[in-house]
Amino acid sequence: KNEISIGLLGFGTVGSGVAKIIQQHQEDLQHKLGAKVAIRKVLVRDAGKDRISDLDPNVFTTDIEEILNDSSLDIIVEVMGGIEGARAAMEQALKSGKQVVTANKDVMAEYGHDLLKLADAEKCDLFYEASVAGGIPIIRTLEDGLASDRISSMMGIVNGTTNFILTKMKQEKKSYEDALAEATELGFAEADPTADVGGLDAARKMVILSSLAYSTEVKLDDVNIRGMDTIKDGDVEMGESLGYTMKMVGSSTKDEDGIDVSVEPIFLANSHPLASVNNEFNAVYIYGDAVGETMLYGPGAGSLPTATSVVSDIIAACRNLLLGVNGKREHAAQHERVIKPADK
Ligand code: NAP
Ligand code: HSE
Repeated sequence: KNEISIGLLGFGTVGSGVAKIIQQHQEDLQHKLGAKVAIRKVLVRDAGKDRISDLDPNVFTTDIEEILNDSSLDIIVEVMGGIEGARAAMEQALKSGKQVVTANKDVMAEYGHDLLKLADAEKCDLFYEASVAGGIPIIRTLEDGLASDRISSMMGIVNGTTNFILTKMKQEKKSYEDALAEATELGFAEADPTADVGGLDAARKMVILSSLAYSTEVKLDDVNIRGMDTIKDGDVEMGESLGYTMKMVGSSTKDEDGIDVSVEPIFLANSHPLASVNNEFNAVYIYGDAVGETMLYGPGAGSLPTATSVVSDIIAACRNLLLGVNGKREHAAQHERVIKPADK
């Protein structure tokens, strides 16, 4: 095979970044894979929109079936967002033997276990590195890098939008509204930012990370969530005057009583490493029995950082395709699910 053909569902912040990296790094990709990677079809909602793109205008379509039924496509990359439509598209793609890459934490937090089982059954890959912490390779770290360890807890800033807002409120004294508008303008916020500011986006990411870290199925209903609306006027300034920084923090612990996952705005002492994670950057602390303490840090949202993770997943799927070993990822035996109930 000397060409891998991609069907891209979505050409917004992330999708356009994916196209840019594939185009700009084509020579490196060919060198790494020994095959050309080509975007052959792109799904958009509005085909008439002006788009900055080097792609042939004929690749754009508003008909998802034209892409999902195209047997010449090897990999479907879902970066359109939403839940039901995206889940259905991924399911259809896997059932027709295509490899799937997604950046969609909404779908992976809710339907990830079923989709991964379907991918196994169909002997297809389903990769989702960009679904948590944009440009940080956190999924692979939990699946592979720390596979040997027993993780007991994680603590992290996993939503770029709220971290950007809190940083701008603290450092530039911006209003909440102005900071959110800027985060939206820069492409960090979701199409509907309610999930960002309400803590649901971070909760979904903590569900994905906790399920991987503890080899079990953590559900969104099990997460205690408090959003930015619980921050009172003057809280950020008061914390600052006392040497504390307000951050939206996701926490996840596993002990003999079960698993506890939460997302909430909390004050961190300025000396805490997470207190100096600013703007759209994310960081996740992981505590393992053997490794001790390790932290991953990097851009958590935005076009090119997120697209980096998506394209790395495309490379992984391509490698498997060229070796003929898609869907052969090993899965750890699932541990029994013992989760402390959320006290909402
Ligand atoms: P976006 O900028 O809103 O782009 C969405 C794209 O999908 C647009 O091109 C849109 O078409 C197309 N689209 C959406 N619904 C469609 C439908 N029903 N039919 C046809 N086309 C449709 O979104 P994004 O920020 O790139 O995010 C995409 C996904 O990546 C989401 O799941 C998001 O949570 C995830 N993600 C985003 C980031 C980030 O920093 N933005 C980071 C990590 C993960 P039009 O162009 O015609 O409107
Ligand atoms: N809206 C998300 C965030 C995008 O701000 O973190 C990255 O998942």
